[in-house]
Amino acid sequence: MSKSWRVIHVPVPIPSRKIVFIGLILILGIGIAWLGLHKPPPPAPQPIKVAALKKELFLPKAEKPSNAQLADAALNARVESLLATMSLEQKVGQLCQYSAGEATGPEGNHLDYDQLISAGKVGSLFNVVGAKDTNHFQHLAVEKSPLHIPLLFGYDVIHGHRTIFPVPLAMASSFDPDLVRQVAHVAAEEASDDGIRWVFSPMVDIARDARWGRITEGAGEDPFLGSLFAEAYVQGYQGSDLSHTDAVAACIKHFAAYGAPNGGREYNTVDMSELTLRQVYLPPYRAGISAGAATVMSAFNPLNGVPATANKFTLTQILRNEWKFNGFVVSDWDAIRELISHGVAKNDDVAARKALLAGVDMDMQSDLYRTCLPDLVKSGDVTQGAIDEAVRRVLRVKFALGLFDRPYTAEPKAPFQITPEKRQLARHAAQASLVLLKNSIAVPDTAPVLPLSKNVASVALIGPMADSAVDMLGSWPAAGNPQDAITLRAALQERFKDGKTKFIYAKGTDALIDSDEGFAEAVKAAQQSSVVILALGEPAATMTGESASRTRLDLPGNQEKLLETIVQLGKPTVLVLFSGRPLAFKWAADHVPAILEAWYPGIEAGPAVAQVLFGDINPSGKLPVSFPRSVGQEPLFYNQLPTGRPADQIDLSQPPVGAAKYFSRYIDESNAPLYPFGFGLSYTQFAYSKLKLSQPSISVADLQASHKISVSVEIKNTGASEGLEIAQLYTRNTGGSIEEPVRELKGFQRIELRPGQTQQIEFSLGFEDLSYYDLTMNRIIEPTDYEVWVGGSSGATLGMQFEVTP
Ligand code: NOJ
Repeated sequence: MSKSWRVIHVPVPIPSRKIVFIGLILILGIGIAWLGLHKPPPPAPQPIKVAALKKELFLPKAEKPSNAQLADAALNARVESLLATMSLEQKVGQLCQYSAGEATGPEGNHLDYDQLISAGKVGSLFNVVGAKDTNHFQHLAVEKSPLHIPLLFGYDVIHGHRTIFPVPLAMASSFDPDLVRQVAHVAAEEASDDGIRWVFSPMVDIARDARWGRITEGAGEDPFLGSLFAEAYVQGYQGSDLSHTDAVAACIKHFAAYGAPNGGREYNTVDMSELTLRQVYLPPYRAGISAGAATVMSAFNPLNGVPATANKFTLTQILRNEWKFNGFVVSDWDAIRELISHGVAKNDDVAARKALLAGVDMDMQSDLYRTCLPDLVKSGDVTQGAIDEAVRRVLRVKFALGLFDRPYTAEPKAPFQITPEKRQLARHAAQASLVLLKNSIAVPDTAPVLPLSKNVASVALIGPMADSAVDMLGSWPAAGNPQDAITLRAALQERFKDGKTKFIYAKGTDALIDSDEGFAEAVKAAQQSSVVILALGEPAATMTGESASRTRLDLPGNQEKLLETIVQLGKPTVLVLFSGRPLAFKWAADHVPAILEAWYPGIEAGPAVAQVLFGDINPSGKLPVSFPRSVGQEPLFYNQLPTGRPADQIDLSQPPVGAAKYFSRYIDESNAPLYPFGFGLSYTQFAYSKLKLSQPSISVADLQASHKISVSVEIKNTGASEGLEIAQLYTRNTGGSIEEPVRELKGFQRIELRPGQTQQIEFSLGFEDLSYYDLTMNRIIEPTDYEVWVGGSSGATLGMQFEVTP
């Protein structure tokens, strides 16, 4: 890999968000002036809401430490004076972390934590939850250990702590980073109230392969979207000041490229070019670190032959030297010992040495730092300086969090209860993350199946996900309680409690069991009803999340059979899918009139889904990942690199005949996804027109001098209901020295429009958006041709071209 890192640093004086904001103020000002001159004001439709999201992804090489608070001189003076008093064993103690609660990895060690903490040999615990339990250990650290250094408690708070929100992949479907900031803030408050000041989140691994179970934990396949979400989670968790009691330290994970394991198999090897690493996989980590994330977790996987836990290139060269990360790095569970299984360490000592020297500051769970580092320093294999540096990084975070000043957590006076405000936020998040994939007519000459009529005579709700509270909470429910989750069955029961609509529920089958015992009851329920809602999917805890890779992407158990049995009855049927990944459901896409992807929506799952099904809420979610037709298409992603034999003009629905064979295609399946990235329907329709560029070309010099080219478009709500559209800008660059993807998301805007209302929106493209890495890892811009498209998905067809001139 190249050791050089030179970025053409072009200062961007005004961030684009500010431009949009100033633009909005101007538009508003002009609007007010106009209203003053013309009377009487006609009820001209005003935009309800326009939120512009546009961000430079590829930040120039960092000049300053990534987190200003951790760089504070007074804070560092406290760190140094404490460090000066520490023995080698006490220093190493700060680098050791253990799970003192429910294991979240293979069987761990069971040490006497009380004794170790009292001796000052533990820096952090995780999987301990609640003021009482954390205070127990904290008292030992602060009152009994020789230097009274408080422990830092970590936990997997991934999509809420007690109030459980939609899983991260669902949150990404909202295309609403502001919403993520709010959700992460609530999670931080609740975690902190439970004694936890460090969350192992966000997971920002780009995931392009639906077989990989952890795709549910991230923001999907796109670096632009992923970066915005990485930044938003960090800002939501950490707030403006880590020492606030409602702030927790975020942890960017899993560094690096954990989301690209060969074959989609968990913990497997990752092998990719440095170009792809930098262009696609690194931007979200970088965005989270630039937002000030206090910690990073190294990944389990090897990257190009070097395990992430011993990878100097990623942990030191990129993270520290290029990005100026000044927080600390924790290993993943037992990953230091796993260096032996990877075959790069012949024993515990070598594993500990390699991890520390590569840049892993804290050892999660392997216990090798405690057992090996003191001797390694004595033998000279590890310098005292290397230990000191790791300890400094850990202590900085502890000081910044205010742990030395406030080590304990107030014990609650009453049992935890979710407030109405949090429920409302959870409901809103769930609504925003639902993606309507299909909505067609079930009976000729009638309206599409959705939204269902509020006066419907009878409804059958069928399927194993209809009443499974635990599944609504997703794969990392933290301290969430399934009893807080409202299922679809409960929500519909509540909705129909006046008895005007007959409501029948039949489970039909268990999610994983191949039995059709419940089919007869389900068929009867469907036959007796005017509409059928099928709630199917993957069990969240067993089939999604960590260590849940699949070779099939179908509905597990007997669910496909149940689906086909019910759909063939010919009733207007809606399929609501609860899944942590894109499933491949071609039969359903062809035969079920309406399909809603619900992911795992959290505690307000039932009410949110019901509100969308019955049209109280117009769906607006868009897919953050491509949905395949067949598992054989994976890894599947829209921003592919071009091929010399593109199959664009070929009819891929037929097996190849003659010359049609010699294209980059499958012989038994189309290349296209079932549903593309960025796709999602609404109950209204949006028409895009009048695409305009501010100029037909822009020179390299102008781009380098921070000039931008603007792209404007008009969007009209041509349907009958108010709706929110997520307008997306894509580009393609051709004619340069390296291949660029066939499409790349470069911006999006969220626009609410009333029926008949038209709104013009504008995007701008500058150096940061249009430049790319060359083979020596410099960001360059060349005289090339650009195509731009704006529309409601990555399949947008309204396009134009401009040129970048020498
Ligand atoms: C292993 C997982 O990979 C990681 O994401 C998690 O934070 C740790 N275990 C701790 O539970």
